[in-house]
Amino acid sequence: MLFDRPQAGSRAVLLNVRLDSSETNPRLAAEELAELVRSSEVEPVALIQARRPRPHPKWFMGSGKVDEVAAAMHAEAADLLIVNQELTPAQQRNLEQRLDRRVITRTELILQIFAARAQTREGQLQVELAQLSHMQTRMARGWSHLDRQRGGLAMRGAGEKQIELDARILRDRIRRVRARLEGVHRQRQRSRRRRARTGIPTVALVGYTNAGKSTLFNALTDAGTTVADQLFVTLDPLMRRTDIDGVGKVVMADTVGFIRDLPHSLVESFKATLEQVSEADLLLHVVDAAAPDAADLVCQVDAVLEEIGAADVPTIKVLNKADLLDEQGSPVLEDQCENELARVVVSARDKTGLPTLKRALGRALGVGPRPITIRLGSGSGKLRARLYAVGAVLAESVQEDGTFALQVRLDHAEAARLLGNHAVPRRAAATTATGK
Ligand code: GTP
Repeated sequence: MLFDRPQAGSRAVLLNVRLDSSETNPRLAAEELAELVRSSEVEPVALIQARRPRPHPKWFMGSGKVDEVAAAMHAEAADLLIVNQELTPAQQRNLEQRLDRRVITRTELILQIFAARAQTREGQLQVELAQLSHMQTRMARGWSHLDRQRGGLAMRGAGEKQIELDARILRDRIRRVRARLEGVHRQRQRSRRRRARTGIPTVALVGYTNAGKSTLFNALTDAGTTVADQLFVTLDPLMRRTDIDGVGKVVMADTVGFIRDLPHSLVESFKATLEQVSEADLLLHVVDAAAPDAADLVCQVDAVLEEIGAADVPTIKVLNKADLLDEQGSPVLEDQCENELARVVVSARDKTGLPTLKRALGRALGVGPRPITIRLGSGSGKLRARLYAVGAVLAESVQEDGTFALQVRLDHAEAARLLGNHAVPRRAAATTATGK
């Protein structure tokens, strides 16, 4: 049986189903879904919350909930249902038939936003690949017949069934897009090798979507990147060679915004862009420090970094949007990660904290005064924390006598200010600052 999908429109009911196994805060998940919907220029007209121990095989939700959704769609004259969960092709089809409205999932919504935003050739190819891969995982007879877009029967080989034909067309298209992407990728590798020869370090900005990466990129490089209060404005790999005072020449890369449960087809398709992250000399992990769930968003970004093999790249955590913080400061981040060199509080919008960030950048990239080694006793926890906070620590080891040996890079004024009455070190000689 062929099934024509209802047309999608611009008024959407959002359905946020929480499974008992989920650890995500349902209120924040619903807000994020609404944010995503607004980014796609669809108007969210109602939000329905549901909770289930496990998905219902036929509609994902129970029959009573489907009635509630149908009533809300009718009352709000909505023509689209957006579900925050992955539906099986059968569940999606059953829902569309029962509601007589288009039903899409969060992944499909993200793919649509990406498709609308991609501007460069590479960005567009990456999105196309993600869409095709997603389609491939959802192919079901009577569902997404490609023949209607591609000329149908005339293309069919002898004895080939519809579903086989669809699968073949998809495979061919995926192969072609991959080949084109590989061409772009090779070009990128050549540029990367050229850069490596000139010794210019690469710094990649990473962070949850809307954290302020593009704003910071502009503040640090004076580039005119689009900044908007929308999710995923930055899609295309943006790299700019720039001269940062006190740091020197660097290549700054602004990357795609991360998001929780990033659809796997997207991670796969954006591998080339994300590769810049794992191969960068340094990451600036930008955090919206004023977000109520900032600590959770940091974990989500860390999970993506792990997935793309970038967990070991040295990182400076940039706590952004300081202008929105009240006196209590940020709820973020008690734990310091292993590869974290420094934590700097900035407002990219108001350009505050940037000199400290630039100093931390310079240190991390090996620019500035020569490193010195200082010894700290167990009572010097505060000093040790301050040295980390300004990004001065290059390496640390625990000595046999239980003291810490810290290799630090500090300019003279900072050394005097931070080390105070501990001896101000001269040149590379080991200095001891034992806690009292
Ligand atoms: P994606 O492209 O979605 O990954 O976003 P992004 O991380 O590049 O964020 P972007 O720079 O586009 O900023 C998102 C929103 O936050 C915009 O409305 C910015 O104006 C705002 N913003 C960025 N930095 C600051 C800041 O320091 N303070 C305040 N109050 N707002 C900021």
